[in-house]
This record gives sequence, structure tokens and C-alpha cells, in this order.
Amino acid sequence: MSAALTRCAGVDDLRALAARRLPRFLFDFLDGAAGLERTAAANQDTFASMLLQPRVLAGDVQPDASVALAGRVSALPMVLAPVAFAGLLHVGQEQAAARAAASAGVPMCLAMASIASMEEVRSAAPEAELYMQLYMLRNRSIVEDVLERARAIDIRTLVLTVDVPMHTRRYRDLRNGFYRLPYLDARMRLDVLRHPRWAWARWLAGKPRFGTVARYTQDGGADFFLRQLDPSLCWADVAWLRRRWPGPLWLKGLLDPEDAAEALAQGADALVVSNHGGRQLDGSPSAVGALARIRERTPAGVPLFVDGGVREGTDLVRLRALGADAGWIGRPWGYGLAAGGEAGVRYVLDMLGQELRIAMALLGKRRWRDIDASVLASARH
Ligand code: FNR
Repeated sequence: MSAALTRCAGVDDLRALAARRLPRFLFDFLDGAAGLERTAAANQDTFASMLLQPRVLAGDVQPDASVALAGRVSALPMVLAPVAFAGLLHVGQEQAAARAAASAGVPMCLAMASIASMEEVRSAAPEAELYMQLYMLRNRSIVEDVLERARAIDIRTLVLTVDVPMHTRRYRDLRNGFYRLPYLDARMRLDVLRHPRWAWARWLAGKPRFGTVARYTQDGGADFFLRQLDPSLCWADVAWLRRRWPGPLWLKGLLDPEDAAEALAQGADALVVSNHGGRQLDGSPSAVGALARIRERTPAGVPLFVDGGVREGTDLVRLRALGADAGWIGRPWGYGLAAGGEAGVRYVLDMLGQELRIAMALLGKRRWRDIDASVLASARH
């Protein structure tokens, strides 16, 4: 592990290291969000506003933060959220993240827009608990083929992202010309050349390709998804998918209790409450803010996950207090990958895990499932 990595005390330090290691346009893509980035900020602000209530002298509080997700034990109540283009953040690509997730004992949800193909990721990390994130494409036969391939590599859990009927205006990316990929303009080229230690040369020589979908397209570049994302996605499509996927089917990107109820009515097994890290509708509520209302109206047995703004182990306690079964993390593992490849992702997971266990001990909670609203200071006054 690099010295720079071991000097990182928290996710913010890894973010700063990632900013130094990445060309500007890639860091901005990872770190940025839609519009004025108010929703991205709200995700973190809501966590910050939730004060915790320490308890003392609770006796044996050796914390156990493991949790069952889709019938398998995860060592920590975390999932690596799907992050498109993650393979560009480090030469080890998505395989490095999958190996880190496997060694930490947590699942990884692989983005459909990954650089490495799902088969490459699976063969690099045969023991990883992989979920597959899916975008509904206009061409449904591609979707059917991807499902087939997922089954063939032992992926059981399918995660349909429902909050991207179309792309949004992400100011940093627009300024950087990010969506012109695979074409690098002069400024991007300069940015890349300033980072000679990375294998960006691959980019200059050729084009970054989306590994999983490259076989369905001439160029395999970023415009594949711009062209294929289906803006007419509706509930009938969820039912269509349900008929074709016998394993766990989860919907990601809901913020409204009525949408959550409809998702369950169409056969979803679990939901990821999410505003896509603030990358879709700038102005939507924070994900953790939406969680409480959805939990209230969702049957207790239905797993609810939430992502957006988790930057410290204590944030996992907070989302658990509002009824989530686990927290998903997006940018934090991206920062880790950019900062230190496999070791960097592992470092993020270990750090958040340690912070979570310490918080549990100080709150007098031995098991993850014991955490409830009583850990919030607001509940005690
Ligand atoms: C994402 N996210 C995302 N989600 C998804 O369902 N499919 C995708 O392809 C992507 N791609 C993607 C790229 C990048 C660079 C980021 C930062 C995020 C959203 C992601 O899964 C998750 O919802 C958020 O990242 C959670 O917020 P935090 O943890 O980043 O604050």
C-alpha cells in the first residue's frame, strides 16, 4: 500500500488524493453532479444534521456489523454502488474494485456501463458477490442477451436503475467536454499527458470502450448509452423484466413512497432509495431524507437500501436509524480506486467499517440490526 494512501484518515483525504491523481475531466466526472449540485450537497448535509446519542456502560459491545443481503452474509452493511466508467479511474479497472469487495466480504453492483466486461470482472474475482446494474435499452434483445450472460457468470441479483430516462446537464462535464468521449479534445489530451504514469496512452491510441456492451455496437463509446437509454421506460417494463429474471430484482433510484409501492406491486424484491448521488434531478430531496417516508409505507420485510452522501461510518448508523438495511457507496469507492487501485478500494471499505464499529460501540449497539431510531439525539429529547 502506498504511503500516500496510509496517510489518508478519511474519505475526504482519499478524495483529495484522487483529485491529484486523475486528469481533471475524470475527477470532475466522478465528483460532480447535476446542475448546481445542490442535491449532492443535501445528501451530505442531511447526514450532518442527524446528531447521534452516545450511551455508556452498556457492557459487552463487541460490534458485529454483518448483515444478510439477498440471502448471503455481507461482512459490512455496504454495497459498492454502480459507477459508470469506473474502469477509467485506474489501470486495474473494475476488476480491482471487485477483488477489493470480495476480500472485504461485501457485494459489488457492477455498472452496465463498465469499461471491463462483466465476464472479465467475474473471472478476475470469481468469489465476489456481484450484482448486475441494468439500464433499460431501446433494443430489448440486447437487454435479454445481457440477462443471459449475467446468469452464465453466476450473477443472481439484478438492479434496474429507474432514475435515468435521460441524461442530465452536469455542468462540470459540459465544461470539460466529457460527453465527447471517446474523442479527446486538445485540453483533455493535455490533461491526460500530464499524468504519464497511468495507462492513459490506451485512450490516445484507441478509444475507451464499454466492455459489456461493446459487442452490440460499432464503436462501444459513450454515445452508446446516450443513444440507447429508453426515455419511454414505464412500469410495464418492470413487469417485462420480472418475467425474465427469476432471481432477486431490485429497483434503484426511487424517492417517492407511491413509486416504491408500485415497484413492489410490479414484483421488485427490494429498493434502493437514491437520487443517483445528485446526478439526476438537482433539487430532489436528499436520499436519506426520502428514506424515512418510504420506510413508513413499505412492509417491514422488504429490504430498503439507500445511497448518496455516505462519507463516514457514522452515516451508516444514521441510515440504519431511519430503517435502511444497508448503505450503498458510489464516489467513495471511486476515490479509493483512483487513489490506490485495489488497495485503495479496500482501504475505503476498511475505514468505513472501522468507523461504523466504533460508532456502534459508543452507541451501545452490538448488532447492526439492533440499531434503531433511539440512536438519534432527536429521539431522546
Ligand atoms: C454513478 N451512479 C450510477 N448509478 C447507476 O445506477 N448506474 C450508473 O451507471 C451510475 N454511474 C455513476 C457514475 C459515477 C461517476 C457516480 C459518482 C455515480 C450513481 C451511484 O450508483 C450512486 O447512486 C451514487 O454514487 C451514490 O452517491 P454517493 O455515494 O456517490 O454520494
